[in-house]
Amino acid sequence: MKKFQVITLFPEMFTGVFEHSMMWKAQKDSKVELTTINLREFGMGKRRTVDDTPYGGGDGMLLMVEPLWKAVEYAKQQDPGAKVLIMTPRGMRWKQSIAQKYSESPHGYIFICGRYEGYDERIMALVDEEVSVGDYVLTGGELPAMTIIDSIVRLIPGVLGGETSAVIESFSDGETLEFPQYTRPVEWQGMQVPEVLLSGNHGEIAKWRAKQSRKAE
Ligand code: ADE
Repeated sequence: MKKFQVITLFPEMFTGVFEHSMMWKAQKDSKVELTTINLREFGMGKRRTVDDTPYGGGDGMLLMVEPLWKAVEYAKQQDPGAKVLIMTPRGMRWKQSIAQKYSESPHGYIFICGRYEGYDERIMALVDEEVSVGDYVLTGGELPAMTIIDSIVRLIPGVLGGETSAVIESFSDGETLEFPQYTRPVEWQGMQVPEVLLSGNHGEIAKWRAKQSRKAE
């Protein structure tokens, strides 16, 4: 079973996402194991401190290397073959083809969610890949980790119910080839479902869908 371990200061953020819908079902069906590791538990001293000011000056606080290091070591004990990913806007841009590759790989993943102004660079000695979800800055790595985990888990064979979904959304390197779809009613606010979709002519429907398929901007 593929393990996804998330190192975060905000494990509660993941409960809603992990405990519903596809991710919940994937765990119930023993396709994946999704767990969080509270970085605070590896904090320093009585106050379990995890952050400190940067050497050389500058605004804000950094995650200290020691709590991060210990949390990664703990996660590695649970899953020695796991790859370590750190969420950062300067990382490799996440895309569908990478999600596919990760879903097919035999090992699990450890996600490090950054917070504050960043982290002590020395944690990179334990990191296999820096990953970004796009060229914008979020307040922490939690939302990126959720996004990336969702995109991988749904591609694990047997996780999505109708495997036809995988056919409908053919992707290649981020270009969606999806076509417009409709369900009941046939007319809404004067807008009609395209006639061809009601025709029952599968050949014509396939042709129409191919023509309608478009690249994402
Ligand atoms: N942390 C903050 N912003 C991020 C981004 N765009 N991708 C990944 N991690 C982040």
